[in-house]
Amino acid sequence: MLGVVSSPRRLRGSIRVPGDKSISHRALILNAIADGPSRITGLSAGADVASTLGCLRALGVAADPDGVRGRGFGGLREASGPLDCGNSGTTMRLLAGLLSGRPFESTLVGDESLSARPMERIVEPLRRMGAHAEVTPLRVGGRPLNGAVRDGFPVASAQVKSALILAGLQADGITRIIEVKPTRSHTEEMLLEMGANVRIRQGEIEVERSEGLRPLEVDVPGDISAAAFWVVAAACHPDARIDLPGVGLHRSRTAILDLVSAERSRVGLVASTQGRLPAWDWDPAWVPSLIDELPVLAVAATQREGTTTITGAAELRVKESDRIAAMASGLRALGADITELADGWAINGPTRLRGCRVESFADHRIAMALAVAGLIADGTTEIEGSECVAISYPGFWGDLQSLG
Ligand code: S3P
Repeated sequence: MLGVVSSPRRLRGSIRVPGDKSISHRALILNAIADGPSRITGLSAGADVASTLGCLRALGVAADPDGVRGRGFGGLREASGPLDCGNSGTTMRLLAGLLSGRPFESTLVGDESLSARPMERIVEPLRRMGAHAEVTPLRVGGRPLNGAVRDGFPVASAQVKSALILAGLQADGITRIIEVKPTRSHTEEMLLEMGANVRIRQGEIEVERSEGLRPLEVDVPGDISAAAFWVVAAACHPDARIDLPGVGLHRSRTAILDLVSAERSRVGLVASTQGRLPAWDWDPAWVPSLIDELPVLAVAATQREGTTTITGAAELRVKESDRIAAMASGLRALGADITELADGWAINGPTRLRGCRVESFADHRIAMALAVAGLIADGTTEIEGSECVAISYPGFWGDLQSLG
């Protein structure tokens, strides 16, 4: 499907973004291993979270968007076939960690994009914990686990960290995870609230076997990674004000707001026109804390004065698409001065973007970032494969229309 965007004279409106995708996955998965029923409100209606829901059901868990009937680790039963994780890396990696500690084997599969994404990064450390784990297809479980306390696991990925924590909850001994760079900390914080044997220190997490987890009532906040599209659109548009009520502002997720400012109000965010601003003096250390916002940040960089050189982001090459190549090709077609680097982009601005037809590469964040470019470009921008926004933000096109 084609998404068609042109720049309205004014961008005005109030948008309630979908529930946070990362917190939604965890609300389902963690409550599935709790002892008792839980209530969830505001769960993401995106296809990725639906994949997690489907996998949990296939494992015998009674799970719905508004709650899960947890029956402890023992409540997970061998599925009758491969678990379909769809397009969702978080589903595949977190469930692989969880299922590696179960007495039965599980196979996890995904769509073409997910099947091509790297899984050695979880298989290798899980094996060091004694797990049976194979990469193609991803197959885990059937063997008891032991913690790996000696040197710990150095990680710079919230998904890998979470997989190891979920394995560590079922392992003998202590599992120590050393965070090379801080990443979103929802898993360990939610588990702590559930009474798990988890210790969080600066740059380090320790996990021990945990049973009898308390169910956690979760009111999922709005997804800041979805709100980021509107924050950038408003900042770059000459006449914009967008209210974004209910957006979650967890400290591990707000780095985007340090770069593109939006007012924090009592009810959420207010994003508005920022006017002419200088290019960013980039620090690659920022990357893990705004990894999902980098495609739309590249759009913002086209409107900044001078050269922004975004580096340290090679990880973007193994996301739902090669996001470095995808944004370089889309923004260049729209008239931006952008050079593809091995681990990012050099973007020279400000440039007036001109609408044309661009490709989403079936990647939700690419489709939405290019739609934001369309909101500030002259003429009409057409985005191929626009339906992929349903992965994280099914109402995206309707919300965009409501703004102008
Ligand atoms: C996520 C972690 C990040 C992020 C992804 C969601 C999570 O991935 O890009 O969209 O919920 O843990 P990595 O851990 O691979 O960096």
